Amino acid sequence: MTVLIQAEGASVVHRVGPILSRQRLVALHPIDITIARGECLGLVGESGSGKSTLGSLLIGRQRPTTGLVRFEGLPLHKLGRQARSGRFGAVLQQPKFSLNPMLSVGDSLLEPLAILGQRPSGAQARRVLGESLERVGLPGEMQDRRPHQLSGGQRQRVSIARALISRPDFVLFDEAVSALDVSVQAQVLNLIRRLQKSDGFSALFISHDLAATRYICDRIAVLYAGRLMELGPAEAFYRPAHNPYSRGLQAASGLLDDQDAELRLDSKSLPQSGCALAPRCPQQKAICREREPPLLGQTHLSRCHFDAVPNATLLSGQRQEASRCDT
Ligand SMILES: Nc1ncnc2c1ncn2[C@@H]1O[C@H](COP(=O)(O)OP(=O)(O)OP(=O)(O)O)[C@@H](O)[C@H]1O
Ligand SMILES: [Mg+2]
Repeated sequence: MTVLIQAEGASVVHRVGPILSRQRLVALHPIDITIARGECLGLVGESGSGKSTLGSLLIGRQRPTTGLVRFEGLPLHKLGRQARSGRFGAVLQQPKFSLNPMLSVGDSLLEPLAILGQRPSGAQARRVLGESLERVGLPGEMQDRRPHQLSGGQRQRVSIARALISRPDFVLFDEAVSALDVSVQAQVLNLIRRLQKSDGFSALFISHDLAATRYICDRIAVLYAGRLMELGPAEAFYRPAHNPYSRGLQAASGLLDDQDAELRLDSKSLPQSGCALAPRCPQQKAICREREPPLLGQTHLSRCHFDAVPNATLLSGQRQEASRCDT
C-alpha cells in the first residue's frame, strides 16, 4: 500500500460571533488519517460533523489550523495552485451550481486543462471532449449544450467528467449523489465505482448514506462533532459496527434492526468533558461523562470506553492530540 494523502493531527478551528465576543468553534479536532493510492475512503456522519471540512483539507482548499496534510509525503500547501488543480478533482453536491451557466459543457470541461496550460483546440478539442463525455455515459455532442439544458443526473455526470479530465490522483466526492433522484443516484454511484476502479484514482466519498458508502468504498471513517469515532474496512459496516455512534447511524438508516442502538435525538448539545457522544449514547456510563475515550485499534479503530476491539492498542500521538484540543 502506498500512502497518497496523509493528515497528521490536522484540525480546523473557526472564530465565530461578533468581534468583541468571538468564540472558538472546533469544526475538526486533530485527526490522523491516510488515503492510499487507488483507495476509496468513505466519510459519514450527521450534518455539521466536519465531513466537508476534512474533505477541503485533504484537497488543499483549506489549510489546517494545527497539524499538516501531506501529499506524496510533502506538505500539501507547498503544492502550487496549478499542480493542485491537475492532481485533484472535486465533485460537489449541487450539480446546478458546480457548472458555470454561462459556459457550454465543452468549455466547462476544458477549464481544468486551461489552468494546466493544456487546452486543446479545434478538432482535437472536440475529440477530447467527446471521449471525456462518453466515459461518463453521455453522448459526445452534449459538449455544445448549456448546463440548463441538462437533467440533474446529466449535469452530475458532466461534473464527474470535469473532475477527471486532467487524470487526477485524488478526487473528492462531497455528497455527489445526494441531490439526485433515487434511481439516478444508483446509476451515478455505479459510474463513480466503475471509474474509480478502472482509472485507479484515490477518492474521498462523503455521504449521509451509509449503504451507498459501504457499497462504493474500501474503508469507512465515521465523524461525530469533528471527531473520528470509527475507521475500518467497509465490510465491517455490513455487521453491527464497533462504535455506538456508527451503530446509531446504521439503525437510523435501517441497516441495523436494534432499538438498543438508537441514539437519543433530544440531546445534541456537546458536553464540557468526557465523550462527546455521551448525552446521546444508549450505553453511556459514568466514565463516559468523565473521560474522553481515546481512539483504539490498528486496522480498525474506534473511540469508545466499552468497545470490544480485539487487541486494542493506542495509536501513537492520539492521546496527546485528544487532550491538546479538548475544547
Ligand atoms: N466558514 C465557517 N465558519 C464558521 N463555522 C464553520 C465554517 N464552515 C463550517 N463551519 C462549521 O463547522 C462545522 C462542520 O461543518 P462541515 O461543513 O464540515 O459539516 P458537514 O459534516 O459537511 O455537514 P453537512 O452534512 O451538513 O454538509 C459545522 O458546525 C459548521 O457550522
Ligand atoms: Mg458537508
